[in-house]
Amino acid sequence: MDLYRQSNLAYWESVVSIHLASKFYRVDEFRRGVNVLDPIVRERIGDVRGKRLLHLQCHFGLDTLSLARMGAEVTGVDFSPRAIETAKALASETGLSASFVEGDVTAPPLPPAAFDIVFASWGAIMWIEDISAWMRAAAKALAVGGRLLLVEGHPAMMMMDEHVSPRSPFTMRYPYQSRMPEMNEFDRDYADPSARIEGEIFIWSHGVGEILNAAIAAGFEIRSFEELDRVHWAALPQLIKRDEVYWALPDGAPFLPLAFALEARRVGVK
Ligand SMILES: C[S@@+](CC[C@H](N)C(=O)[O-])C[C@H]1O[C@@H](n2cnc3c(N)ncnc32)[C@H](O)[C@@H]1O
Repeated sequence: MDLYRQSNLAYWESVVSIHLASKFYRVDEFRRGVNVLDPIVRERIGDVRGKRLLHLQCHFGLDTLSLARMGAEVTGVDFSPRAIETAKALASETGLSASFVEGDVTAPPLPPAAFDIVFASWGAIMWIEDISAWMRAAAKALAVGGRLLLVEGHPAMMMMDEHVSPRSPFTMRYPYQSRMPEMNEFDRDYADPSARIEGEIFIWSHGVGEILNAAIAAGFEIRSFEELDRVHWAALPQLIKRDEVYWALPDGAPFLPLAFALEARRVGVK
């Protein structure tokens, strides 16, 4: 296993229990039956009843199980054994039917053309070196005519320096897209800033053109690409908490897309 993947996996293994207990992930509300799937995703994913749905990088299965509750026949895949174990425990605790599979998202151990919808969101593709391989795996999992929904932090927003004061202007620090990963040393957790964890992670930047071209080359027809004014985590210190779920630009700031929603349909076999 390469150093990048090994470090990233160690990070994800270390945060599962912190996330499960965090307010950010709203697991208590989920346990009480609240639909905690965020509205941007909920509006775009539509009616999932009876649909075979694959959730890529499902973490500990919260969104996957929310989609099961909405009537989908769900499978979640993630490379973190602890996340998969926790997702299975959460499914059995809540009595929701779901399959959780441990594996790399670029080569998931799943049958081809077995899904109607492939879905991923919020902090998925930055962990992926080869976005073309990610798109090929998503396309391969879908039956022809099946849908991809990817909701993500916007690459323009991801360029900005997050190590600044809340009153600073936005300053570019990271490349718009990169072949080599950015190494980030971390000492706190995004979902629970009081949790003390330490280590290194390696993340990649993928530009809009790179993402769309990877999707097209994998056999997708792009149906829409929306640039959004909200993001699901406190990605930059200048952002303000807009409601229970999203962070947004401060009043008067020039528009910077904070997130995107890509919808595509599998049209062919590549
Ligand atoms: C930010 S989380 C995904 C967010 C998800 N929307 C959520 O909040 O539940 C990123 C996930 O990607 C997984 N991951 C990272 N690299 C992966 C890879 N190469 N294959 C499979 N899973 C991966 C991590 O284990 C983690 O669970």
